[in-house]
Amino acid sequence: MTEKNTLPEIRQNIIQRDLRVLWHPCTQMRDHEDYPPIAIRRGSGVWLEDYDGRRYLDAISSWWVNLFGHANPRINAAITEQLGQLEHVILAGFTHEPIVTLSERLVALAPPGLARCFYASDGSSAVEIALKMSFHYWRNRGKSRTRFISLSNSYHGETLGALSVGDVALYKETYEPLLLKSITVPSPDCYQREPGESCADHSTRLFAEMDAALARHAHETCAVIVEPLVQCAGGMRMYDPVYLELLHAACTKYNVHLIADEIAVGFGRTGTLFACEQAGITPDFLLLGKGLTGGYLPLSVCLTTDPVYEAFYAEYSAQKAFLHSHSYTGNPLACAAANATLDIFRDDDVLNRNRKLADYMTRATAHFADHAHVAEVRQRGMILAIEMVQDKQTRSPYRWQERRGLAVYRHGLANEALLRALGDVVYFMPPYVIQEAEIDQLVKVAWEGIDRATR
Ligand SMILES: Cc1ncc(COP(=O)(O)O)c(C=O)c1O
Repeated sequence: MTEKNTLPEIRQNIIQRDLRVLWHPCTQMRDHEDYPPIAIRRGSGVWLEDYDGRRYLDAISSWWVNLFGHANPRINAAITEQLGQLEHVILAGFTHEPIVTLSERLVALAPPGLARCFYASDGSSAVEIALKMSFHYWRNRGKSRTRFISLSNSYHGETLGALSVGDVALYKETYEPLLLKSITVPSPDCYQREPGESCADHSTRLFAEMDAALARHAHETCAVIVEPLVQCAGGMRMYDPVYLELLHAACTKYNVHLIADEIAVGFGRTGTLFACEQAGITPDFLLLGKGLTGGYLPLSVCLTTDPVYEAFYAEYSAQKAFLHSHSYTGNPLACAAANATLDIFRDDDVLNRNRKLADYMTRATAHFADHAHVAEVRQRGMILAIEMVQDKQTRSPYRWQERRGLAVYRHGLANEALLRALGDVVYFMPPYVIQEAEIDQLVKVAWEGIDRATR
């Protein structure tokens, strides 16, 4: 390829080379014979642009990571400045200013009592850390506990520990023989509520199952792990904060840890900076990733309490230390991006602006509820989901082989929108810099896509 090649030629070249050497995530590679990957040349704000000059409105924040748009000037500047100082340093035995500042800020912003930050590079690793740390805590306290409790339809990542506490068959089933035997309790998912039942009543009623599991298994259980308020990968299924209140009280009563996996819902997605705030609780472990760096660089963190930290604090010879590590733990460039992201939250009244955007999304999508193949439009803050069904009355789903959500996705790509559905759930989880006119555009494309896909 030379400078003389046209952009479509460059695009074609990238795709051919890609298909020779890459293996893409969450993809049946054979599908690329008919639908090659889209080569993105650049991004700006909510927009991605390919080599043919086609644009795509990133309605899913590139797998829920992007908060303040692509090529955000403030985050760009912070990373560039950091690049001139220090790109990386081992975090065992060494430290650096960006990570100390970031940790101080996270501790100040998180629910009270979360006092220590342990870093990793991606969400799944943060989940592994919380599981191991909880297990190890009980061991250091002289107790042998090996079980974890989680909710049906939950998702916590793709590594073996994370898959063990997840429950989305599509990702988990194949690997079942390799996994820890965790305890699964029915999700308080409000989509499953009885006609006339409020979401809060449904969540409260479903809590009885969790209480029973805790009563039975507390003696052998390290922790309960949940995605607070929204089960994202499980189809953006939502539940009421009262469930978290009850769960927190029960974990205290039964002396079991509570792990709040806010990797997808943290940083303003649900309307508050952290979803746990809506229940007024402090979990024993709070997991953050994705939006932590504004969607720029891989970084995740497991925040925990002083009592947990102190259970590991001893003479080296006592063999109580948490000897877990990842090479890129606390990478300074990622920390600089995270600090710039927190600056934007501090300076720009983001949560209030999001409230207005969320209200706008509610109004703009109200008519979807009347569609003959839409069972529910649900929303929490900056997450709005539209559930397509075969039969509106019985809510019977389409057969998965029909891939109606995929049809909406393809319709979106042909009409300037990246709307990657979860099964038959089409959703908007856009960067917070989206404008009202852009929401209108998404709504129009999603409506047309759903209408065509369900005919
Ligand atoms: C709630 C939750 N936990 C953990 C993860 C795993 O994060 P990662 O993909 O960065 O490993 C995800 C990813 O979508 C998630 O939604």
